[in-house]
Amino acid sequence: MKIAVVGTGYVGLVTGTCLAETGNQVTCVDINEQKVKMMQEGKLPIYEPGLELLFHRNISQKRLLFTNVLADAIADAQIIFLALPTPPGGDGSADLSYVLGAAKDIAKLVTDYKVIVTKSTVPVGTADKVTAVIKANTNIECAVVSNPEFLREGVAVEDFMKPDRVVVGTTDERARKLMAELYAPYVRQGNPVIFMDERSSELTKYAANSFLATKISFMNEVANLCELVGADVDMVRRGIGADNRIGNRFLFSGIGYGGSCFPKDVQALAKSAEENQYDFKILNSVMEVNEIQKKVLVQKLKKYYNGDLKGKHFAMWGLAFKPETDDIREAPALYIIDELLKEGATISVFDPEGMNNVKALVGDKITYGADAYETLNDADALLIVTEWSAFRTPDFEQIGSLLKSKVIFDGRNLYDLQKMIDLGFYYNSIGRKIIN
Ligand SMILES: NC(=O)c1ccc[n+]([C@@H]2O[C@H](COP(=O)([O-])OP(=O)(O)OC[C@H]3O[C@@H](n4cnc5c(N)ncnc54)[C@H](O)[C@@H]3O)[C@@H](O)[C@H]2O)c1
Repeated sequence: MKIAVVGTGYVGLVTGTCLAETGNQVTCVDINEQKVKMMQEGKLPIYEPGLELLFHRNISQKRLLFTNVLADAIADAQIIFLALPTPPGGDGSADLSYVLGAAKDIAKLVTDYKVIVTKSTVPVGTADKVTAVIKANTNIECAVVSNPEFLREGVAVEDFMKPDRVVVGTTDERARKLMAELYAPYVRQGNPVIFMDERSSELTKYAANSFLATKISFMNEVANLCELVGADVDMVRRGIGADNRIGNRFLFSGIGYGGSCFPKDVQALAKSAEENQYDFKILNSVMEVNEIQKKVLVQKLKKYYNGDLKGKHFAMWGLAFKPETDDIREAPALYIIDELLKEGATISVFDPEGMNNVKALVGDKITYGADAYETLNDADALLIVTEWSAFRTPDFEQIGSLLKSKVIFDGRNLYDLQKMIDLGFYYNSIGRKIIN
């Protein structure tokens, strides 16, 4: 099939590459000329495990092309994917200007029937809005389909190639057939393509992300209570996760959810409910708990240093909002850096993939280690912020000898408590006993 993908960010580039991988002819279009130039030169603009191999293979087999000219991308395409940003607007609702703007540009260019698929996360009713924009700008018949994306950064390629499910919202029979054909290679093992109406499909994505964010906030509250009552959140997690009705995934407590999706999607769903005169109480609590949880590590530091962080120097391991990505959007690390700088502390950071993005944002207000251990020189304490695998079994002897004192604040519960006792560290994690 001939496909166009509009927007080549984390979703668009993975979508385009993975669709090319099963033999489709894909043209990706982006307004960022520098990005397009990079991709035309065979360079990946993002870090995403497993993407590079597929990217190069499909470029070399001429199934994956890049352009910044929308007309070139969509001329022959049967299906046009919109993988555009939907950032929060001033009032928390999703900003649809990218999606609706692109729909208008596309409508002005189409010369035959196209299936226009919204992959961006968009509020209920967006398919109607996109349809209205298309109809206002062309007489050519087009179908507008909702096809939310559930991939996770860090395992995006695997998620796209073997999705748990594909959700397609359409009431257009022709579009339904094309979408079924397109996704058939990805669901050969029986994972379902779930067809539904556009509105249900749009809401499915927000409901999924909001439910997952709810799980995180719930476990963070359990962790906070564990600290007060002397229970261990890791034990509680295992105890409840073994119940099939609960399941053992997404039950890890930490320093709050971040990333480009959860914060904005929970907020947008709450806003959408409000616009429909519905007070979605759980979502407001989920957001409130997350705001508090982002402060937990700094609160712990303040308590330990008697409220005075001025002149303290901290090593920070992890910047990306989660491991296996270079994405730092809404990363808890940024919040912690900001707070510590305000308190008069200095920070030296290391992250395997997120350093350049943070440098571009924070600049020389902090220092950057060439590796994890370099950050430790003369630091008062080590803060663990992102659970990269490389931080799981570090050289504790080296950590102990480089730090000014053997103090670790762990926002991701990476280390075994008994081990920390044996090694003689002060160790303060989330929802577990403090070792000192
Ligand atoms: N990142 C994720 O993990 C993820 C997962 C599921 C869904 N989503 C949703 O998918 C959408 C895209 O997210 P993302 O993380 O890929 O965003 P992104 O910011 O990484 O990428 C968006 C891309 O669109 C380009 N762009 C902007 N306007 C354009 C235009 N008019 N024409 C062509 N290109 C244009 C930008 O230059 C950028 O490259 C959002 O709605 C997001 O909520 C994201």
